[in-house]
Amino acid sequence: MIPITRPQLPPLQDYVKLLEQIWSTRMLSNFGTFSQQLEQIASRQLQVGARTTSSGDVGLCCAISCLDLPAGTTCLVPSFTFNSTINAVLWNDLIPVFVDVDPQTFCMDPDAAAAAVDRCGPSLIVATHVFGNPCDADRLGALAKANDARLLFDAAHGYGSRRGDTPVGGLGDVEVFSLSGTKPVTCAEGGLVTSRDERFLRRVEYARAYGFQHDYNSQFAGMNGKMSELHAALGTLTLPTIDNVLAHRDTQIARYRELLADVPEVRFQHVRAEDRSTFKDLALVFDDHDARERARTALAARDIQTKLYFRPCHRMDAFFAFADEALPATDHLFDHILCVPLYAELADQTIEEICGVVRAAAQTTAGVSSRR
Ligand SMILES: Cc1ncc(COP(=O)(O)O)c(C=O)c1O
Repeated sequence: MIPITRPQLPPLQDYVKLLEQIWSTRMLSNFGTFSQQLEQIASRQLQVGARTTSSGDVGLCCAISCLDLPAGTTCLVPSFTFNSTINAVLWNDLIPVFVDVDPQTFCMDPDAAAAAVDRCGPSLIVATHVFGNPCDADRLGALAKANDARLLFDAAHGYGSRRGDTPVGGLGDVEVFSLSGTKPVTCAEGGLVTSRDERFLRRVEYARAYGFQHDYNSQFAGMNGKMSELHAALGTLTLPTIDNVLAHRDTQIARYRELLADVPEVRFQHVRAEDRSTFKDLALVFDDHDARERARTALAARDIQTKLYFRPCHRMDAFFAFADEALPATDHLFDHILCVPLYAELADQTIEEICGVVRAAAQTTAGVSSRR
């Protein structure tokens, strides 16, 4: 099968050398050398303070808990995101208010967010840099500031993304990354919480370590969000490769664009020219739902994996109760989107094959509708 993604790993012998160090020191966890090194690499690359966590999911829970908001506080969230974003809000006893996305960028629509702020006066805005495309941090930041709300970005997909010259990580009050195996750079499992506020990060250090430090005196209810040294060691080899990884992805995306340039029935996610996205997932949006379905079925028949990211959270059983407003852009995207394979070893020939199938599926529709 052609998978949708495949982790990019360093040479095994490089990792084995680091494992040998771990075997000799027997320091398996508790923020040893490798976790500290990883934080230094991340801080340098992202130009902001960073703390490791065991996953992006736990990082989100931990980061929100450290904002210390009263239970029942309303919080703006996208529906077009992975369910972790909403889980973290609910784990912290906050109330999610779903906000629609911009149909071109797939990120939280600042106008829809402003309307939701007027309706519910939230104390927290959580927005996702969808597939690594940086949110409109200027407008969301201004909105948060004007309303005395905190701004957290779910940056799970965004390690290496930039908005203008600012790396994702330093755009919100807090940002949370995932380094799981589906991400362009990975620790196998892992996450990072970033912030410019060192006092906040100090609190994260407690929260991710059960709520206490060396004195075993809990300061508040924390959790086990520690990244192991085995995971961190892997990250010290992968994070430094981010620019090369993204440059190669850009060439592959350029090839997809070139091959689909004359298929106007299919469009790509809009990323501003001055920004950089990781394209953690490469999404195609079809004008026609049936064409999307035809492409999906034809690619599956060729054993090529695709995904319908994201199933909107407001349509999920667990979150349905919070779906009080219509989210037309989110619903439309889900019905027309198809994420296609993108990873380093993906052969050019396979990109051609995928684009051929997409073209045929899209243009069958065009033929049918033009005959009507
Ligand atoms: C938007 C988003 N947020 C959070 C997460 C959770 O990250 P992790 O898998 O590292 O727990 C993911 C996972 O892919 C995600 O896509």
